Amino acid sequence: MLLPPPTDPPHFDAYPSADERGSLDHCGVFRLPQIQDRRGNLTFVEAHRHVPFDIKRVYYLYDVPGGAERGGHGHHRLRQLIVAMSGSFDVVLDDGRRRARYHLNRSYTGLYVCPMIWRELDNFSSGSVCLVLASEPYEESDYLRDYEAFRTLRNAPSAT
Ligand code: TYD
Repeated sequence: MLLPPPTDPPHFDAYPSADERGSLDHCGVFRLPQIQDRRGNLTFVEAHRHVPFDIKRVYYLYDVPGGAERGGHGHHRLRQLIVAMSGSFDVVLDDGRRRARYHLNRSYTGLYVCPMIWRELDNFSSGSVCLVLASEPYEESDYLRDYEAFRTLRNAPSAT
């Protein structure tokens, strides 16, 4: 289930198919299941049910100093769901043509990022934790770390 976007990014009702890549139209904020309980709330994520991929890796950012920026790269194949487990931060997504800024501050929502999207993370609140569910193991060759090279590749006539 899709939440109303926090700013003005494009949104959709269901995850895109695995083939869809390289467009902000295929990214968005999704609501995850939440079991509310007086003892505390619980959220769970199942592969192919709540994320459209096998979860092959989990990593998290924490102890991020004030003013720090993370990310600053794209990926050829990687798909991710980014969750603000604690606190808040912003994710800027860029498909080489458009940019959208998402403010994440709920542990029951996740920002889905399809392949071939440039991402930057900033505006981390004190004590925030950024959890990332990823479709692939870590592989440096999947990274695009130069923005102009990313844009050139993304906007090449043969790109999807
Ligand atoms: P990077 O992906 O550039 O960090 P971020 O995008 O969050 O700012 O990774 C930073 C370093 O950590 C880099 O040397 C690669 C290493 N790393 C791994 O070894 N495994 C991983 O799963 C990730 C995400 C990074």
